[in-house]
Amino acid sequence: MGFRSAVNEKNIILLGFMGTGKTAAGRIVAGLLGREFLDMDAEIEARAGKSVAGIFAENGEPAFRAMERQLVVELAGRRSLVIAAGGGVVLDERNIRDLAGSGTLIRLDAGQEEIIRRIGADNTRPLLDEGNRAGKIAALLQSRKKAYERIPNRIDTTGLSPQQVADRILAAFQTSR
Ligand code: S3P
Repeated sequence: MGFRSAVNEKNIILLGFMGTGKTAAGRIVAGLLGREFLDMDAEIEARAGKSVAGIFAENGEPAFRAMERQLVVELAGRRSLVIAAGGGVVLDERNIRDLAGSGTLIRLDAGQEEIIRRIGADNTRPLLDEGNRAGKIAALLQSRKKAYERIPNRIDTTGLSPQQVADRILAAFQTSR
């Protein structure tokens, strides 16, 4: 395999907090490039036969993180994928290292108010269960700031449509080659 084609096959890995549009934009990017799209949460749900919320409730968060870790190891061995990672994948530094070895990491970002608007009414995210959702989002964003900042390629999605975010991901990927 030549150098050029090897480079072109690099995975595109979208990281970032819940509600930053990883899944919506990732699906569009995959379509534009004719690549396979892989949403990590959806893949874990399909394999476990239950929802992410169900896994958290019945098996606990550590079990979910172990499934995430296992899937990262597997995906890092593949190429030509567009991957939407779960928001907590960055919590394990090994995940960042392994995914970076398989392609280009792109961090999607959004202002706190926009994140609250996008996921405020969503009940599929166990970390935001019950009670003061805005407060939980603010606290999680703060505690994860350093982890997300390890990924230098950043796109601020505030006010952008998924299509606009997809265009910026493609531009970032092209300049990363
Ligand atoms: C999580 C984010 C979720 C999902 C799980 C935990 C997190 O993914 O993996 O609820 O720890 O930030 P999305 O970022 O796709 O919502």
